[in-house]
Amino acid sequence: MNKTKVLVANVNDIDPLGARKIRIKDTDIALFRLSDGEVLAVENKCPHKGGQLSEGMVCGKVVHCPLHDWRIDLRNGEVQKPDDGCVNTFEVEVDPASGSIYLSV
Ligand code: FES
Repeated sequence: MNKTKVLVANVNDIDPLGARKIRIKDTDIALFRLSDGEVLAVENKCPHKGGQLSEGMVCGKVVHCPLHDWRIDLRNGEVQKPDDGCVNTFEVEVDPASGSIYLSV
């Protein structure tokens, strides 16, 4: 199925090391702005018991779930050992001139 590029936010809407929640087609998505300026997007639902990852603390490229501290790599959605699981990730594109953030969904 073809993906659609959707304008979802601007980098200036997200504090450095912060996150923003968005909802597209009944899916809750968390956008994260990392310390190096990169923006990554994952489904906003921990695979353990559904914690909101947007409320978690980001460390490097990993977010710590706020409920039971599972660690999830924001680049590929994989849960870090010793835990196991995966969340959906979304392709992010940032327009360097305007700061507009686009997601492929
Ligand atoms: S719900 Fe995320 S670690 Fe338990």
